[in-house]
Amino acid sequence: MNKVTVVPGDGIGPEVVGSACAIIKASGAKVEFEEVLVGLRAEKEFGTALPVSVLESIERNKLALKGPTQTPFGGNYRINIERVKNGEEMRGDYPSIAIALRKELQLYVNVRPIKNYPGVASRYENVDLVIFRENSEDLYVGNERMIDDNTAEAIKIITRGATERTARYGFEYLKRTGRKKMTIGHKANVMKLTDGLFLKTGQDVAGDFPDIACDSRVIDALCMELVIKPESFDGLLLANLFGDIVSDLAAGLVGGLGVAPGANIGKSCAMFEAVHGSAPDIAGKDIANPMAVILSGVLMLRHIGEIAAADRIDAALTQVLAEKKHVTRDLGGTAGTKAFTAAIIAKL
Ligand code: NAI
Ligand code: MG
Repeated sequence: MNKVTVVPGDGIGPEVVGSACAIIKASGAKVEFEEVLVGLRAEKEFGTALPVSVLESIERNKLALKGPTQTPFGGNYRINIERVKNGEEMRGDYPSIAIALRKELQLYVNVRPIKNYPGVASRYENVDLVIFRENSEDLYVGNERMIDDNTAEAIKIITRGATERTARYGFEYLKRTGRKKMTIGHKANVMKLTDGLFLKTGQDVAGDFPDIACDSRVIDALCMELVIKPESFDGLLLANLFGDIVSDLAAGLVGGLGVAPGANIGKSCAMFEAVHGSAPDIAGKDIANPMAVILSGVLMLRHIGEIAAADRIDAALTQVLAEKKHVTRDLGGTAGTKAFTAAIIAKL
């Protein structure tokens, strides 16, 4: 029996994660859930948005299903972690909960499959690509400061090691899943050293995978091409910030943020979460689309070898989408989160 740490999170998190957990349970997958409190409610109850016990739970179970967590814009909100791990005192200081989790658990790559689903309206057909986003560095190290009242500075870090392990994971994933091509997105014409290193490292790793074609695009041109002919892309290798931005853009190609799942993978743990955030504008109204978290759960089940349960959920979801009778507003329906969930469970 696999135990999964479940992090409902903020905003629509509890609704969409609750939906995914109910569906996973109904699928017959051999998983048990351990629910933990993170985010605004944890801050109220424990005085910290990310209690150390949560990190320990995920490290113990090696698996987490996470809902979105809210981060205020601007200001000096930080997540501070102090803990003893393997007898060693460790300290961390991060700009958000999601980043703290990825760093503390060393989830070095963020994998985000983007594809069309039958019944989900979109401007494009035949989109089927996978984004590999480096998950630990770049401008997201959170090393920012005010130089004076009118000048702010941020540091961008790119290392060969972090780029290489992300690239290697990506190429291996493409090979394993029968895909053919990796495109490296970068801005090495301007950020010659940082993005130059990212591009060169990606190309070096490509040399070890002769069966997978590799090309590259300057990030702005990549965005243009993605909205003109997204079906021509297969794998995308991106540094942290570009990966974040292009993930939302790519979600928009196939029907929006409600449908894009993700996996944060590390050497020992894996944490599955949707691309979208806590959507405070629609929280608590039973209108959020749970599909992205459900699909993140499907990725999790595949990751632990529960293939039959994953296939069952995928098939049930596909049927409900195709029938269009019980889908949420963002998908053109009128069903609430709960009714959409019940319809999927009924098909299992
Ligand atoms: P968002 O992704 O929460 O929302 C953007 C738009 O998409 C909103 O109009 C929202 O209603 C809609 N939307 C998102 N998910 C949806 C769903 N499942 N069904 C239907 N509509 C959906 O992005 P936003 O508003 O920029 O961020 C809100 C908060 O979420 C911020 O505090 C941000 O820091 C946090 N966030 C957390 C993430 C994480 O925990 N991994 C990732 C992204 C944002
Ligand atoms: Mg994002």
